[in-house]
Amino acid sequence: MNKIIAFAGSNSKQSINKQLATYVANLVEEAHVTVLDLNDFELPLYGIDHEITHGIPENAKAFLEKIKASDGIVLSLAEHNGAYATVLKIFLIGCQE
Ligand SMILES: Cc1cc2nc3c(=O)[nH]c(=O)nc-3n(C[C@H](O)[C@H](O)[C@H](O)COP(=O)(O)O)c2cc1C
Repeated sequence: MNKIIAFAGSNSKQSINKQLATYVANLVEEAHVTVLDLNDFELPLYGIDHEITHGIPENAKAFLEKIKASDGIVLSLAEHNGAYATVLKIFLIGCQE
């Protein structure tokens, strides 16, 4: 059985993108779906000084491990000011290895 991670590029507690990602992931046949919420992986405002002092945040590592352990992801993005939401960008930076 394929392990699918579904999440939204949004930190809205009523995220419509989270609803969409969850719905779509559950359309995948014979998949075990885990829905993640970026609100459960709080991260600091990121910067080089923070990284030098504290390293990569534990929540970013924990999130990346869940992604790595999956067979696929379903991600739906909220558009903020013409781009993807800042909360997702912080995750993408934090998850770099
Ligand atoms: C700070 C902010 C900026 C936004 N910027 C845009 C935008 O540039 N273009 C757009 O079409 N919608 C924009 N929106 C609307 C969101 O993309 C829209 O409400 C989306 O459905 C929110 O998804 P969510 O419920 O998953 O958070 C913005 C919303 C917020 C809160």
